[in-house]
Amino acid sequence: MFFFGASTSSHQVEGGNRNDWSEWELKTAGEKVLKAKGKRWPDHLANLRPSPMDEDNYVSGRASDHYNRYGEDFEIAKKLGHNAHRFSLEWSRIEPEEGRFNEKEIEHYRRVIAALRVRGLEPFVTLWHWTMPIWFVQKGGWENKENIKFFSRYADKVASELGSDINFWLTLNEPEVNSSMAYISGEWPPNKKSLFKYWCVINNLIKGHRSAYELIKTRFPKANVGIAKNNFFFQSAGGPINNLKKFFSDWWWNHYFLNNIKDHQDFIGLNYYFHREYGAEIQNPTSDLGWEICTDGIYPVLLDLKRYGKPIYITENGLADARDIYRESFIRKTLERVWKAIGEGVDVRGYFHWSLLDNFEWADGFWPRFGLVSIDYETLERNIRPSALAYKKLIEEWGKDTVGKK
Ligand code: FCB
Repeated sequence: MFFFGASTSSHQVEGGNRNDWSEWELKTAGEKVLKAKGKRWPDHLANLRPSPMDEDNYVSGRASDHYNRYGEDFEIAKKLGHNAHRFSLEWSRIEPEEGRFNEKEIEHYRRVIAALRVRGLEPFVTLWHWTMPIWFVQKGGWENKENIKFFSRYADKVASELGSDINFWLTLNEPEVNSSMAYISGEWPPNKKSLFKYWCVINNLIKGHRSAYELIKTRFPKANVGIAKNNFFFQSAGGPINNLKKFFSDWWWNHYFLNNIKDHQDFIGLNYYFHREYGAEIQNPTSDLGWEICTDGIYPVLLDLKRYGKPIYITENGLADARDIYRESFIRKTLERVWKAIGEGVDVRGYFHWSLLDNFEWADGFWPRFGLVSIDYETLERNIRPSALAYKKLIEEWGKDTVGKK
């Protein structure tokens, strides 16, 4: 059975969260509006509501109100032919104070999982999709290796409460993206530029993953546990410097983390978004966020992951496209490359588009529209985009049971 679905994350869709990000949003919204006002925006982005020039754009607030509307949203996913769904648990809801677990919130997620199962959607559950409880950050968050035990305790608690209903776990989402945005470029909370801290965070995340892996597997030996890893398609336009950059990036960005957890993962979750050719200008069109659209790149990235000998699930792949002009061909071309990789022996078992819904895109806020389903943020009305129906057709054409056998 091949899994076709879409992904979300708690902070980006739920609404009503209180964590390190929600605090940071309130502090930084004004400054972001000023920056946005100094930029030239194409009409189709400037006219969105909220617009990049509004403070509301940068505060997650009620987000897509998925916390209350998950049933309606999963009903849409089912109608769109999906048979799986990836989402994340919000640690700050489950453990709002150190060591005090909120049973009501655990119950909420139990209902979320049941709502997926009843619609024939296999849950893929992420434990940490970047947001942290405030108490955890006050103790130094992932910078401090003494704090790994808190993540382990949270993972174990969730496994004990919800684990019997979960076959697929992602302990961490894109650990290297979060830590480089927070500690190298310093653009995301806690906005610290420090190579040393970056190094500590990455290595603590590795340890955190390994520990969560072991705890989940002790309780549920048959569970499938991995991470969602953001890998780039790196190329060099030639010359020793560009070649060296490519070599270093492949080693550090694509493989350092995976190599360090290779004995602690049952599958690889691949989040594919980016192509970088050192020494060359971008040739392809770009999305609303200015990210190059390079669907072909997923093929070499998948071939490159064959070395780990593990099943691969594409746990994220998508683009910000408010007009929905690129999404349909983006999905089709990407899947064609995925089938080609499968034909060459790469064990790909699922594809999750980012995202099911329009949502809160971190520091950029609401204006980047990644959803198969659009959200009107004034009324919270959901509307299925044409590309979502095209994806549905592709799922039907390829058949969940026959992918890889054609
Ligand atoms: C990924 C993140 C996800 C979303 C997409 C656009 O890096 O995991 O939360 O923001 O990018």
